Amino acid sequence: MTEPGIPDLSEAEARGELARLAMEIAYHDRLYHQNDAPEIADADYDALRRRNAAIEARFPALVRSDSPTNRVGGAAEAGFAKLRHKVPMLSLDNAFDATEFAAFCDRARRFLGLTAPLVFVAEPKIDGLSIGLTYENGVFVRGATRGDGTEGEDVTANLRTMGAAVPQRLEGDAPASIEIRGEVFMTKADFLALNAAQAAAEQKLFANPRNAAAGGLRQLDPRITASRRLSLFAYAMGDSSEPVAETHFGYLDRLRGWGFAVNPLSRRLDSETQAAAFQDQIGAQRSSLPYDIDGVVYKIDDLALQRRLGFVGRAPRWAIAWKFPAEQATTVLRDIRIQVGRTGALTPVAELEPINVGGVLVARATLHNEDEIARKGLRIGDTVVVQRAGDVIPQIVEVVTDKPRGEVAYVYPDVCPACGSHAVRPPNEVVRRCTGGLICPAQRVERLIHFVSRNAFDIDGLGEKTIQEFYAEGWLHGPADLFRLPEREADIAVRKDWGKLSARNLSKAIHARRTIALERFIFALGIRRIGESNAKLLARHYTNYANWRAQMVAAKIVGSDERLTLGSILGIGPTIAEELADFFAEDRNVAIVDALAAELTIEDAAAAEVADSPVAGKTVVFTGTLETMTRQEAKARAESLGAKVTDSVSKKTDIVVVGADAGSKARKAAELGIETLTEAAWRARIGDPEAAPPT
Ligand code: IVH
Repeated sequence: MTEPGIPDLSEAEARGELARLAMEIAYHDRLYHQNDAPEIADADYDALRRRNAAIEARFPALVRSDSPTNRVGGAAEAGFAKLRHKVPMLSLDNAFDATEFAAFCDRARRFLGLTAPLVFVAEPKIDGLSIGLTYENGVFVRGATRGDGTEGEDVTANLRTMGAAVPQRLEGDAPASIEIRGEVFMTKADFLALNAAQAAAEQKLFANPRNAAAGGLRQLDPRITASRRLSLFAYAMGDSSEPVAETHFGYLDRLRGWGFAVNPLSRRLDSETQAAAFQDQIGAQRSSLPYDIDGVVYKIDDLALQRRLGFVGRAPRWAIAWKFPAEQATTVLRDIRIQVGRTGALTPVAELEPINVGGVLVARATLHNEDEIARKGLRIGDTVVVQRAGDVIPQIVEVVTDKPRGEVAYVYPDVCPACGSHAVRPPNEVVRRCTGGLICPAQRVERLIHFVSRNAFDIDGLGEKTIQEFYAEGWLHGPADLFRLPEREADIAVRKDWGKLSARNLSKAIHARRTIALERFIFALGIRRIGESNAKLLARHYTNYANWRAQMVAAKIVGSDERLTLGSILGIGPTIAEELADFFAEDRNVAIVDALAAELTIEDAAAAEVADSPVAGKTVVFTGTLETMTRQEAKARAESLGAKVTDSVSKKTDIVVVGADAGSKARKAAELGIETLTEAAWRARIGDPEAAPPT
């Protein structure tokens, strides 16, 4: 859905308009914030922002680094501008022991059809925060945090204060444009010195070096960043206008040549059999290193292999983080509290006597579900072993049985602690759920909290606590009410901890999100089993909101064509289809969705990024023995280009790729007159010349 006139804009006109709008909106922001004297009515101001967002939606490549869309209010008052990553910033899968590491290597080898050992580069894994630094013609132009992986915060000004750690200019030859990625962190010594200074100034202490580094980088005032001593190790590549190396190890050399610090403990390992020894060696040095590490990252050295392996979900198939064992400590279980989640699930949480586990203060641990409490035989008052591994929530490992025990076994409630409704546990499920649905205040609040969360509507200034307070005030019944909060700006401004400016910023943050991508909209509804990736699948399949809504409502009829279509979307399946259909079968839910949609401009799903690939939308069958890639690799590659890969040839098949010794499928394709391609012709079609035969 775009504004009138926008479909007719040429690219050049759009660029000009975006520049004008960025200037104009910044001008009005300044008048508002600094002079408290706006020149235009709020509605007109909002119209400018919406027009800007609509043009950006049509020309995503033209989004400016100073785009007002995601910037709320004046930059200084209301946070950082957001920057979209040209190449998503993803995370890593973990291995916790040699078996898991070996399984990772086997998967990669199978995918590639290799039998030879894999050559790796091993790098200590520092738990800091990842950033991307863009250089144009060798000059540092911008830097962003990882954010949600797609969009991060523009922290350029702060990165410029980091001295030699972030070179302002690359030494030697550099590509026309390159994004270099690495980890910003704080050394143990700098962390301790900072906390000592904080203590002397009676300021809040940081829990660990990671938080201190993140807090240091995400300062609105770059002078504060400059006063924090932050370090950086470079270790990865984002986008580059030209190839800069053939191996990761070669790339690390280039990084050093350009003037970056690269972790001096990084090593090339000729085969994966050396990994366990390296892991032990780094583990032994761990406590004496000047910075905290939580494992070692192993990356396949050959960049061509990395490209072939690609990504699955949010992690590469070519790298893994082998984590060190979790750190443990013992403490007393003071209480078990039951939380009610957004879909009514009751989750027990352990309240602990606060304890330092590997440098972090732990006061709570997850207990997962009632069976786990029973399995561990937990009683309130027990002494328990607590462990913490990386970023995960601390867990209770076991009861220390030779310490005095609690008196009575814990009895799990069968009513919801928030609304008193029955809490039932269906046969064969581990989770007990409140049956109160939307009458349960806990579920309503949790849904709202999910709705505004970072990967959903991402409304700055609306955290968990604010949602709870506004809900208690009676201002929020459903998500549509969030968009009516600006009408209460004056009431909000006089609340404790608020003021005119922060209330105004909240209104602006809310208005800024009135235009939303379909996939975020779907995810934000908080329907059970519809996480981000399913939301994306749905958005791409149904492409626009009106179509999606109509199909979902029709799918509530069991056995309807719409239900069958929904269940056959690759990655959705019948269980999820049923969950969605059940949601839309409830009129109350449809009313909530409609009320919300009425407040919003929901953008059509970006036709898959691969829409212009020559095989996008085609149904492809691979048959016979492929010689330059495994079947799994061929399938993943085809799917990444937007093709659908099926096993059997039918009238719906568009292309059959015929390997050696192909049998009946090739014959059937010929009978049906379907296009057949040799493996080489297929590669040529998809523009993949890298035909390295498996060894
Ligand atoms: S490579 C696609 N290398 O670990 C791969 N990450 O758990 C991108 N990290 O988000 C990451 N040291 O913040 C890589 N030598 C290293 C790393 C490293 C620390 C962090 C990074 C990443 C996280 C994933």
